[in-house]
Amino acid sequence: MLYLSPNLFLVNNKYRTVRPVESGDLPQLYMETYGCQMNVNDSEVVVSVMQDAGFRLCREIDGADVIFVNTCSIRDNAEQRIWGRLDLFRQLKKKRPALKVGVLGCMAERLKEEILSHPAVDMVVGPDAYRQLPKLLEAVTNGGKQMEVRFNPEETYADISPVRTDPNGISTFVAIARGCNNLCAYCVVPFVRGRERSRDPKSIKREVEELIANGYKEVTLIGQNVDSYFWTDPEHPTEDVNFARLLEIVALIDPKLRVRFATSHPKDMGNGVLYTMAMYPNICNHIHLPVQSGSNAMLSKMNRKYTREKYLERIDMIRKILPDCSISSDFIAGFCDETPQDHADTLFIMQLVKFDQAFMFQYSERPNTKAAEAYSDNVPEEVKTQRLNEIIALQNRLSLESNQRDVGKTFEVLVEGPSKRSDLDYFGRTSQNKVCVFPRGEAQIGDYVMVTVHSCSSATLMGTLAEKRSPRK
Ligand code: SAH
Ligand code: SF4
Ligand code: F3S
Repeated sequence: MLYLSPNLFLVNNKYRTVRPVESGDLPQLYMETYGCQMNVNDSEVVVSVMQDAGFRLCREIDGADVIFVNTCSIRDNAEQRIWGRLDLFRQLKKKRPALKVGVLGCMAERLKEEILSHPAVDMVVGPDAYRQLPKLLEAVTNGGKQMEVRFNPEETYADISPVRTDPNGISTFVAIARGCNNLCAYCVVPFVRGRERSRDPKSIKREVEELIANGYKEVTLIGQNVDSYFWTDPEHPTEDVNFARLLEIVALIDPKLRVRFATSHPKDMGNGVLYTMAMYPNICNHIHLPVQSGSNAMLSKMNRKYTREKYLERIDMIRKILPDCSISSDFIAGFCDETPQDHADTLFIMQLVKFDQAFMFQYSERPNTKAAEAYSDNVPEEVKTQRLNEIIALQNRLSLESNQRDVGKTFEVLVEGPSKRSDLDYFGRTSQNKVCVFPRGEAQIGDYVMVTVHSCSSATLMGTLAEKRSPRK
């Protein structure tokens, strides 16, 4: 899964990147989002709900009447950051007593009253209750602190058009499912997001069509485990939709739209998805397939429900069916009882698979999870850190080698915006999800261009525009 920087500023108006209106007497909402893409997408749902209730987004916290912070609980440090923000909001409220603060998202769901009792906090609202935000805010104004953290197993926000937050209006996320049923032993997600539920494919298709009409060129379908997506309609029992079929439905909407997805689960990713990817050139050649550990003892303890052999068999199948596909992963260093040999097994599987990219974490015990209840968090902090550093060092080398293999090749890149380093350059991503930087030339944001790679770092490909036009241009 991708992690996004905090303080994402949310921009205005359905599906478009329009600056917030500068004038008017509407009450102003400032939003901060932490955590994964699902949370970013949820914040977009929240903005939609709040705009419909007459609020306007503001860019600066100073002008806000209401602050919402959409929180993450995945690791302890994610939560510590939020506590720090709440202390800052408390200082702001001393100067501006009318200011209201709402804590939303996974930490709201996990800590409930504990968050509500923080002096800065007026309301605590869990991920299934965002439709009630305007009503709850009104109740705060009239009568003090409010909390709504009940799960609603039916809620998919299918009918709400999220107000897009991406800066360029080119690439965005579309949620296809909420919640998770997997109960990986270390993971808090099933406790804070509830049971898994898939979203009606018709509403997914409609949302993607609207995005295209508004100039979007790329969507990433997101769910905690996209492979368990399943939609059945009792009135049309022959038209069940699994993830491979959903991917096909979205790919067929427009060959000019690039389609990505995350996250795939090694225990569930079947060959059907791979064949669908092979069949449609607009489905990007990238799979995020978190392995977490290379040790069977750890995988079993983590309740991942696959072995390293089964994982490697999935990798072989990807390579066979999709030879140009990049593969990324997540790793956890220092899970309960992890031995030096278990850690060596992780380094070994990394070298076997040669992952193109990875997200790497030190194990953080989460209250109430199976691991917290049944196992001992017994790998010392400094050992966890050392193992994580070894994993990071190895991955940096593998990412560099992966990028070096691309030098001299030409890739189709969707231009997303100016590069961070120079206004003279644009950046975009290849189908394999590698960031590629090149001098602007005649290219425009939103164009598909062909770029020949001349050099690279472990994080970026550097290239120049090729003569050849993209087939999608
Ligand atoms: N649903 C996705 C992602 C879940 S969270 C999946 O199954 O892959 C993203 C990543 O955070 C996980 O893949 C895992 O590597 C990491 N993670 C989750 N819980 C963690 C914990 N308690 N400590 C450290 N890392 C954790
Ligand atoms: Fe967490 Fe596992 Fe679900 Fe991913 S699949 S969200 S790691 S419980
Ligand atoms: Fe995402 Fe963090 Fe919640 S990773 S689902 S925001 S716990």
